[in-house]
Amino acid sequence: MTSRTCLSIILAAGEGTRMKSATPKVLHQIANLPMVAHVARAAEGAGADAVALVVGHGGDAVKKAAEAFAPKADAFVQAERLGTAHAVLAARAAIAKGHDDILVMFGDTPLVEADSLALARQKLAEGAAVVVIGFRPPNPAGYGRLLEKDGRLVAIREDKDCTDEERKIGFCNAGLMAIAGKDALRLLDQVGNSNAKGEFYLTDIVEIADKASLMVVATEASFESVLGINNRAELAEAEAIWQKRRRRQAMLDGATLIAPETVYFSHDTEIGADVLVEPNVWFGPDVKVADGAVIHAFSHLEGADVGPRAEVGPYARLRPGAELHEKAKVGNFCEVKKATVEKGAKINHLTYIGDARVGVGANIGAGTITCNYDGYSKFFTDIGEGAFIGSNSSLVAPIVIGAGAYVASGSVITEEVPGDALAFGRARQKTLPGKGKELRERFASAAAAKKAGAK
Ligand code: UD1
Ligand code: CA
Repeated sequence: MTSRTCLSIILAAGEGTRMKSATPKVLHQIANLPMVAHVARAAEGAGADAVALVVGHGGDAVKKAAEAFAPKADAFVQAERLGTAHAVLAARAAIAKGHDDILVMFGDTPLVEADSLALARQKLAEGAAVVVIGFRPPNPAGYGRLLEKDGRLVAIREDKDCTDEERKIGFCNAGLMAIAGKDALRLLDQVGNSNAKGEFYLTDIVEIADKASLMVVATEASFESVLGINNRAELAEAEAIWQKRRRRQAMLDGATLIAPETVYFSHDTEIGADVLVEPNVWFGPDVKVADGAVIHAFSHLEGADVGPRAEVGPYARLRPGAELHEKAKVGNFCEVKKATVEKGAKINHLTYIGDARVGVGANIGAGTITCNYDGYSKFFTDIGEGAFIGSNSSLVAPIVIGAGAYVASGSVITEEVPGDALAFGRARQKTLPGKGKELRERFASAAAAKKAGAK
């Protein structure tokens, strides 16, 4: 099977008007990845070694996005929208290269599973010329029906072309097809457009192949896995299904999710074993959480690395470049951006650490701010191993706080603090005995005089 070559043709020429969006339909995201990228991944998972992306008129945004998620993909333009067979033939040059297997997929069917595609390829390897992935939707209206006769799949009838009798069939075309490369062009070139919509239907190749005595088979996939997205309500439905699958996988992989339905993952989130995730946590793109870490409730992470047994939150925000080493701690109402928090360092409350290193075992007091930006450029703060930063200090970058240094609370630090030094960056306190009482009396008599004058 692995020795067979495979081309995946992804149809992404959707108009997308029902999304009511300036963004092409297939670029709307699920788990922070465009739908069409999910499709490309599934194809890759089923062993596709080449990808042809068929985009519509003005499909430049899709083509450009594809450079990130499918750099090997060749884009083809279907200038006029004349039907699914016509769209597949836009990639004629790719098909003509002579792959063993061809997978036709829709860019707006993002939950397709690699296993279903692999099964379809398996059927090709067993001699089928066309494999149709079918499913049984709760309501078949609108879908092409699979017409079977004597155990053979003989045709797919589009909803609009069905007789009343055919319309009762519950087994429908999911839209995904596998075609033997050696037969593909011959079959596709015979498709005509005399049907209710006047379109060149890809589905017609079933009847064409059957009449030519080629083997045509149907496999079955779950309704959820072949859900097609046409509007944002369906997009949210697909997101929910995706998240449910991912949460389950995280738990099977050894993470504890106390309230799984409140935890959101991205397509690339990596969660280790014995990780505890409390309720209401958001994992944006590019987050890795190592074994034994704890993510407390209401935390928001993106572009972050959380080391073994590190602790985050509650109510913490880790932004891109946040790197927490083993047993580091970032507590409530703290924001960390582009900063390394080394082993065992603690940033427990109400703090902003950006463009910085916090050395091994350092302790950052409540309300500490790295002043990393002057409105034009960003500057680095380097806090050495074991340093202690007193509460409510401002560290004005670029700045170095040496290992073991001690910064007094409320300091504004603008000059380097050498290792083991003590720095005060604040006005000295002056205490005047009895002066508080005297001041209060003076204020009280001034107020009384004012009141008397007003009468
Ligand atoms: C299609 C199938 C139908 C199946 C259903 C599943 C055909 C003829 N019908 O119907 O049997 O039950 O999907 O959802 O294949 N596209 C192009 N260029 C075109 C036309 C379509 O790229 O000229 C793309 C669309 O962007 C979309 C896909 O092909 O991704 C399906 O097209 P659509 O018009 O939505 O087909 P359906 O009527 O839903
Ligand atoms: Ca459709």
